[in-house]
Amino acid sequence: MEVALNNNHKFLSKIATNDGHGENSPYFDGWKAYDTNPYHPQTNPGGVIQMGLAENQLCFDLIQEWVKNNPQASICTPQGGFDFKEIAIYQDYHGLPEFREAIANFMSRVRGSRAKFDPSRIVMSGGATGAHETVAFCLANPGEGFLVPTPYYPGFDRDLRWRTGVQLIPVVCESSNNFKVTLEALEEAYDKAKESNIKIKGLLITNPSNPLGTFFDKETLKTLVSFINEKSIHLICDEIYAGTVTNDQEFISIAEILEEYPTICNHNLIHIVYSLSKDMGFPGFRVGIIYSYNDTVVNIARKMSSFGLVSTQTQHMIASMLSDNDFVEKFISESRIRLAHRHDLFAKELSQVGIGSLESNAGLFFWMDLRRFLKEPTFESEMTFWRTIINEIKLNVSPGQSFHCSEPGWFRVCFANMDDETVTVAVRRIESFVLESKMIEIKTKAKAKKHCFQKNLHLKLSSRRLEDTMSPHSPLNSPLVRAQN
Ligand SMILES: Cc1ncc(COP(=O)(O)O)c(C=O)c1O
Repeated sequence: MEVALNNNHKFLSKIATNDGHGENSPYFDGWKAYDTNPYHPQTNPGGVIQMGLAENQLCFDLIQEWVKNNPQASICTPQGGFDFKEIAIYQDYHGLPEFREAIANFMSRVRGSRAKFDPSRIVMSGGATGAHETVAFCLANPGEGFLVPTPYYPGFDRDLRWRTGVQLIPVVCESSNNFKVTLEALEEAYDKAKESNIKIKGLLITNPSNPLGTFFDKETLKTLVSFINEKSIHLICDEIYAGTVTNDQEFISIAEILEEYPTICNHNLIHIVYSLSKDMGFPGFRVGIIYSYNDTVVNIARKMSSFGLVSTQTQHMIASMLSDNDFVEKFISESRIRLAHRHDLFAKELSQVGIGSLESNAGLFFWMDLRRFLKEPTFESEMTFWRTIINEIKLNVSPGQSFHCSEPGWFRVCFANMDDETVTVAVRRIESFVLESKMIEIKTKAKAKKHCFQKNLHLKLSSRRLEDTMSPHSPLNSPLVRAQN
């Protein structure tokens, strides 16, 4: 099969047959481990629990209630079927006006109405995945690069690079300052790329961050904007976790910065990627959005969107749902409450079993610090430990190296894609593993201590023996003993 596949590759394109999809990374391996042995409370209680999937499943009851109360929103119900023909025929690739209007309104509401969005700038794509590729196609030529602070979402290697030929250049961020993006790190990455003859076309940030679960403060955002403006490169802001804030702080969108400081940069350089995959929990609908402040990019991206339109049926339903202001208000606030509750519960459980994590205030995950469990501070050790987590603890978490983290021992664990019972099972598994490791540690220490004690005792005894032999007061020196010998 392998030979046949390799032979077949000769007849296919280089892009299609290269490794750009990244399917071989540990990030996707974990999913495979889950797929072959998925946990189920009744039918497979010993299976793998999926904690590698950043899904938001905490508010489906609200959505289902809305769907039940609004049958006219679907063309597949007696109440909505009248619109069937209108929806089924070819539509303009600009998207339904009511869809763009509703999305712009939702984007603003999710950001606390602190920023406005113009519906005429909304461009559709197949999820944020498609949006990133389209933006990369619009902004850069093959071989040119985008700076990306680490750790970053593994899918970027596929989305921005694979078919476009664009490169991603890591901006190394470290745990010593909570993985903050500094101007020094940006300059260093920029200069390094320049030395390697890679033309940098932009900076890609994820705000709030996947996998860190943190978002940028105003000062940092202003620094980033000044940096890109000074270099005349683009800024792509992936804000798909904008609505997942888990405490009382307010997320700051790049749109807010532009409204508050209109002269801070050339607006043509700013582009937002958004989707309904995380804030609404609809990754299956593939609703992705490119929102650019650059008219030409809006124009080109719209033409390119022909390759990844959102189906009109989905647009129709989303338009109806998101123009229901009462529902949107209720959904946004309830989703935040439920995410915060799950976040706090999980944080408490982790800290009770002595597992540290980066302090976070958004996202659907924690960035766990498991450095102390590694035999050595290496990525090989991280992989070995990750295999233990998957095969013995039976949890699919994602190792830091798949996020290009510069330090081994960090793991991302997702908490919003399961019900409360599964969370309890997952936490118990972590707990018993930690206890087990502590026992092993205690035993190993005790063994080492015993060994050390015996060695010391042996040494003491032998030196005593030596002392005894040499000492003038030694019983061995007694005439009696001498006589016996
Ligand atoms: C930061 C980030 N960007 C983009 C995506 C892809 O999102 P979508 O499902 O809308 O394609 C993800 C998915 O996890 C993500 O975490």
